[in-house]
Amino acid sequence: MTALIISGKDIAENLLDNELVPRVEALKAKGVTPRLIVILIGDHAASASYVRQKEKFAERAGIVAETWRYNDSVTEAKILEEIKNINEDASIHGVIVQLPVPDHISVEKILRAIHPSKDVDGFTPENVGQLFLGEPTLECCTPKGIIRMIEASGEDLNGKHVVVVGRSNIVGKPVAILALNKNATVTICHSRTKDLEAQIAQADILIVAVGRPEMIKGDQIPEGCTVIDVGIHRKEGGGLCGDVEFASAVKKARAISPVPGGVGPMTVFCLIENTIEAAEKLS
Ligand code: GUN
Repeated sequence: MTALIISGKDIAENLLDNELVPRVEALKAKGVTPRLIVILIGDHAASASYVRQKEKFAERAGIVAETWRYNDSVTEAKILEEIKNINEDASIHGVIVQLPVPDHISVEKILRAIHPSKDVDGFTPENVGQLFLGEPTLECCTPKGIIRMIEASGEDLNGKHVVVVGRSNIVGKPVAILALNKNATVTICHSRTKDLEAQIAQADILIVAVGRPEMIKGDQIPEGCTVIDVGIHRKEGGGLCGDVEFASAVKKARAISPVPGGVGPMTVFCLIENTIEAAEKLS
């Protein structure tokens, strides 16, 4: 049996036409055009590529996305001042600071400066807290996108064992909480986990966000598992790969997300959806 390929790209395209465009049209009829500011610091190649994808998708949804670019040497004070101005500007509905930022800028300080109602990345302590409490909020984009992909693949999270590999603040931890809020039983694994193989062997749903190329192989994946691969890496010989070795994993999984065309487009989709949601609430 070959696995179902969970195309985040197709899901995002479908939802763009059927959900986002009508919501933007309704806002425009009220005289509101959702506006997103992306703060991009320095010339990180991957960030530049992600930001382009965000701009393109925003344009297709009919919203305004502006990238405000700053040199590596920009001061933290300058970025904090820009965020303060954005918070006070009623024509702006969402702002994100593309990560990573240079070492002299504190991510914590920057994120705490963003008003939670405009925090369309869902990274501020307030929005993370709401997510933790299971209250409606602007949810972080990659975790939100992952849950939608799992559900779109026909999997009900209720009562399922979800194993998350990776404990970052932007993927591993929040996706574990979202899965828990859907009544899954959740295990979070990380670099100090003693027997990773034994944990993975229990998964109905496996979410891998470790940032190591093809770390998880097919022989580790339980038969019939739903696999979500969050990693994206350039291969030495060209092309892209994820944190999961796709060729072997596809033989064991019930359903698996590809790289590229899996989680990435859903992250972008959720960012634009959050911006529309923020505009609906703020207007
Ligand atoms: N860098 C990698 N992923 C993300 C993301 O989802 N949001 C932001 N702001 N930066 C990132």
